Amino acid sequence: MKKTLILCTALLVLMCGIIGCGKKDNTSTVTPTVEATPTATEAPTATPTPSPVPTPPEVYLRELFAEHGMKVGTCLTTQMINNKLMSELIVEQYSSVTMENSMKPDYIFNKEKSIEAGDLVVEFNTDMVQMLDWAKENEMAVRGHTLVWYSQTPAWIFYEDFDQSKELVSREVMLARLDSYMKQVFSMLEEQGYSDIIYAYDVVNEAIMEDGKLRMQMNNWYATIGDDFILQAFITANRYAPENIALFYNDYNEQFKTQALVDLVKSLVDEDGNSLIDGIGFQAHLYTEDNLTTYFKTVDALAELGITVEITELDVSLGAWQHEKRANEETLAEQGRYYYNLINGILERKDSGKLNIDALTFWGVSDGQSWRKSASPLLYNSAFMKKPAFYGAAQLKDFAGFTE
Ligand code: GLA
Repeated sequence: MKKTLILCTALLVLMCGIIGCGKKDNTSTVTPTVEATPTATEAPTATPTPSPVPTPPEVYLRELFAEHGMKVGTCLTTQMINNKLMSELIVEQYSSVTMENSMKPDYIFNKEKSIEAGDLVVEFNTDMVQMLDWAKENEMAVRGHTLVWYSQTPAWIFYEDFDQSKELVSREVMLARLDSYMKQVFSMLEEQGYSDIIYAYDVVNEAIMEDGKLRMQMNNWYATIGDDFILQAFITANRYAPENIALFYNDYNEQFKTQALVDLVKSLVDEDGNSLIDGIGFQAHLYTEDNLTTYFKTVDALAELGITVEITELDVSLGAWQHEKRANEETLAEQGRYYYNLINGILERKDSGKLNIDALTFWGVSDGQSWRKSASPLLYNSAFMKKPAFYGAAQLKDFAGFTE
């Protein structure tokens, strides 16, 4: 407790210095209040006995999830690990990390070398290597994210001679490039000693639209390879990924894509009928007004297939996507309850053997760093204080916004 109080207070002071937190976040904190010392000239007044504020017990997410046989993670940037207090907080609370950007296709190809070689050349960037080293040193597991995606992927990799003024390459050429790309990624991870800490890899990200159809617009994987690009990506990944790395399909708005996801899992088989996919990643970018019954229908439908499910990018924004809400006592309590109910439903399903889930990853640690910061979606506020959301995730109902 003492350690956390010191850590929280130090973080608060530090973050206020960095981000100038003039805005008051209405969150439940455990910061000790400093009482003003009365001066000699002040008349003594009767001090009312303050009603005791219950102190939440110390809880570590990594221990809680480990009790259920699960990893719990956060997305990661080098800014986070270069801040000593932040890095310590992550090691204390989480057991897994996903790089927010550095392993995405936009950051792992070298264009000049590719032109020179006449083949795609993969080069790991320094941020990626720094984070992998940090994960290793701190015994954190890593989710690889991501290989085939319509977004955050350089357009030049799809063109003849890697030159966008020319034509898109043929299916044959793109399949050869895909093969070379994945071969390099997995063999470089192995050679550089990182394969062992990676437990899952998103082979394909966001290839299904909300209507359940394949993403065809603005998608060069589809434009070059054709409508079996997901299957081809999994066939190729299976050729090179080591046994310990589970191969995932990852998507957002998953609760509206249930049948398409079920169909996809069933379709990803080799010529002998063996499955090519190990897991489905649910990004879980949710809102406090999203219906949890609907959400669990999708979870249960995939669970029935026996496939591993991971929650890969969880954050719960305040309100609904059409009308976000701002943080106040009421909305933060609602968010605490939502996190409690969501994670309770997941853990219950895991414990009963109904759901094969091995990891849950939050898309960040604090609201101030979130891609959705205006809707305060994470467990810590901008000053790194635990919100009711944290206690909800930690299954401490008394501190998760249920009490009045
Ligand atoms: C998607 C991607 C993530 C990230 C978020 C936004 O969910 O899978 O990698 O880019 O969008 O932060």
